Amino acid sequence: MRIIKAKNYHDMSRKVANILSAHIILKPNSVLGLATGSTVIETYNQLIDWYQKGDLDFSMISTVNLDEYVGLNSDDKQSYRYYMNHHLFDHINICKKHTFLPNGITADVEKECHNYEEIIRNLGGVDVQLLGLGHNGHIGFNEPNKAFEQITHCVTLEENTRMANARFFDRMEQVPTHAITMGIKTIMQAKQIVLAVSGTDKADILNKVLSGPITPHVPGSILQMHPNVIVVADEAALEH
Ligand code: F6R
Repeated sequence: MRIIKAKNYHDMSRKVANILSAHIILKPNSVLGLATGSTVIETYNQLIDWYQKGDLDFSMISTVNLDEYVGLNSDDKQSYRYYMNHHLFDHINICKKHTFLPNGITADVEKECHNYEEIIRNLGGVDVQLLGLGHNGHIGFNEPNKAFEQITHCVTLEENTRMANARFFDRMEQVPTHAITMGIKTIMQAKQIVLAVSGTDKADILNKVLSGPITPHVPGSILQMHPNVIVVADEAALEH
């Protein structure tokens, strides 16, 4: 694991955006694995800015997102499809047909999970996977568990994950209870992984991810086994 220390959230976001930009420039048809959540918002803003300045071209890029809530359609403001359109895709020259998220309103969740794995395989795998880190150590929506769930699957969200995400909803009852997420094996198959972490509230869990035992109780700890992980964390997240 390579750990890059950033001064603060802003600096972390620029560093992460720089790494993603390098991929986009070096391989214009890269497959980017993307995340949602608060941590990556400024990274996306930065990529938009560089696109608008003429430094980046997304016309041949494909994206696959880590996860999507079950039960929310793409027009729903809380869906991750809406988030991605709003925070990135609507502002760059990416072909929307090349942007993939699990379908949260599928009638057959199991089939959707299977299809999603096939989409990733057909794209030739993920070149660089961007990850945020949950307070309980989740990556994607792989919640702490007795075993590492391998491939794309449907997960019951932990109460503390729902509470952390409730800030985006009007009422707690609106926060979905289930999500479809890439599995640990899916994530670990990415050629490169970039884990972005910011804030003192993530310091304890980041410490466990970086130097604790590798255990499904801290799903992010599996990243210690990946040959090509860059952790970009700000001083607040690294102070322990
Ligand atoms: C989002 C995702 C989650 C978030 C994590 C951190 O697609 O898969 O694992 O990355 O919950 O969320 P924030 O950045 O909001 O703290």
